[in-house]
Amino acid sequence: MQDIIEELENRRERARMGGGQKRIDAQHAKGRLTARERIEILLDEGSFEEYDMFVEHRCADFGMQDKKIPGDGVVTGWGTINGRLVYLFSKDFTVFGGSLSQAHAQKIVKIQRMAVKNGAPVIGLFDAGGARIQEGVDALGGYADIFLENVMASGVVPQISVIMGPCAGGDVYSPAMTDFIFMVRDTSYMYVTGPDVVKTVTNEEVSHEDLGGARVHAAKSGVVEGAFDNDFEALTQIRRLVDFLPLSNREKPPVRPSFDSLDRSELSLDTLVPEDPNKPYDMKELILKVADEEDFFEIHPDYAKNILCGFGRIDGETVGFVANQPMVLAGVLDIDASRKAARFVRFCDCFGIPIITFVDVPGFLPGTRQEYGGLIKHGAKLLFAYAEATVPKITVITRKAYGGAYDVMSSKHLRGDVNYAWPTAEIAVMGAKGAVEIIFRAEADDPAKIEERTEEYKQRFANPFVAAQRGYIDDVIRPHNTRKRIARSLKTLRNKQLENPWKKHDNIPL
Ligand code: HXC
Repeated sequence: MQDIIEELENRRERARMGGGQKRIDAQHAKGRLTARERIEILLDEGSFEEYDMFVEHRCADFGMQDKKIPGDGVVTGWGTINGRLVYLFSKDFTVFGGSLSQAHAQKIVKIQRMAVKNGAPVIGLFDAGGARIQEGVDALGGYADIFLENVMASGVVPQISVIMGPCAGGDVYSPAMTDFIFMVRDTSYMYVTGPDVVKTVTNEEVSHEDLGGARVHAAKSGVVEGAFDNDFEALTQIRRLVDFLPLSNREKPPVRPSFDSLDRSELSLDTLVPEDPNKPYDMKELILKVADEEDFFEIHPDYAKNILCGFGRIDGETVGFVANQPMVLAGVLDIDASRKAARFVRFCDCFGIPIITFVDVPGFLPGTRQEYGGLIKHGAKLLFAYAEATVPKITVITRKAYGGAYDVMSSKHLRGDVNYAWPTAEIAVMGAKGAVEIIFRAEADDPAKIEERTEEYKQRFANPFVAAQRGYIDDVIRPHNTRKRIARSLKTLRNKQLENPWKKHDNIPL
């Protein structure tokens, strides 16, 4: 018995060493932690239970039969984050560059299936060189097995990917199908084909960083939802994100004790909107002043900054905030903003998270770049997402709600549950000047007349009362009471019941 226990300990020790001290040192020299060090930071202390530590690959080509390392390049198992269950896998770059063999894929698939069965998020930490080249089609098949589980798990349990080193080829598509991808700045990169292939095919010369670094994906391509400065920051922020999320679609969003008074009134909000309708103001201030303890986890902070998305809490309960940001492009809806917010709204709807929408939007962005890029279809994504969402939806129009964008931004017509406006709201087909130039074109040569008409149009529409008279706005509220009014409304919506008609699935304009 003693022998067996010793052997067990020896085997465990061997597995824990992964590819050996030299490769661990090389990992550290690149500013990256090892797979196991990352798990230690991500999970509650001592909570990690590892599975499949002794799994080895079964490849016998290219001398691989003599090169076996227990665990085979990925550490898998479960643990807790602030006491709540999560499943995870962490690619070990020190073992065959974290590359994916059939056995490696089977370990991940096991974790994905357990997560769905037991209703807990899956977190994947990526640091790998793609398909295990020596394995050929077995590795390709392994990827597809993982992709399938990603799709099955989508909308059932939250899936989070963190790119912490190379992530290329087959490795990119599993993260792409998860709910959130985060990257570490300077030490991670992500692309379908690397700089060498790019050079061969297109003759372009580009570095790893410029092709697929965190700056590219967090700000330009929008592939990732955020970037962090180092492994430690990334992992501690993922802990923070998980705290906001329900573990699965079978449970309500978590509620945690809040010490922030629901009656808190914020007098500074009464002067947030400037007198001049063309002057910007920071919508994030409103989110922070409404959320419990000013705690806001922003999604996509560096991408499509004309719209803000992220999680906060009201009365301890998780909510998703979506808000036009007048500081950037006057808060206009363009392709990127529509896609960003649509995906966020759909995530919230999948997981029963109420959506709070703050509206100050001058419309959709005009121009050939937008139209050629498919603004019609992309804008429709956000419209579709809001319309199909059955979670509680509360909307506050702070200033402009013009044109189609009024409809899109969680309007009453798209089943907004409670729709408020501040006294500064202007709900109209378009801004006064543009409107007058069209409907009074015949008077265009008479500036005095045009000014008079513009004033008339403003008087008629630059206020919330026409919409309120129709019942499209439930009430015009004082800005300083916004948190209180939203919190009270949320309470009434706790038992909201609304279902869409049965269908196999919808056909959102992709
Ligand atoms: C087997 C691999 C490997 C792989 C790396 N290694 N990638 N082994 N299969 N795909 C091994 C190396 O042999 C080396 O082993 C160790 O991992 C570290 O690799 P290095 O190259 O020394 O590290 P580094 O210089 O940091 O470069 C990292 C890298 C590079 C940029 C990721 O390793 C690389 O380009 N790898 C190949 C990437 C690739 O083309 N993958 C296939 C993609 S195709 P030793 O023993 O020396 O430590 C694909 C198709 C799937 O994935 C499609 C499914 C849809």
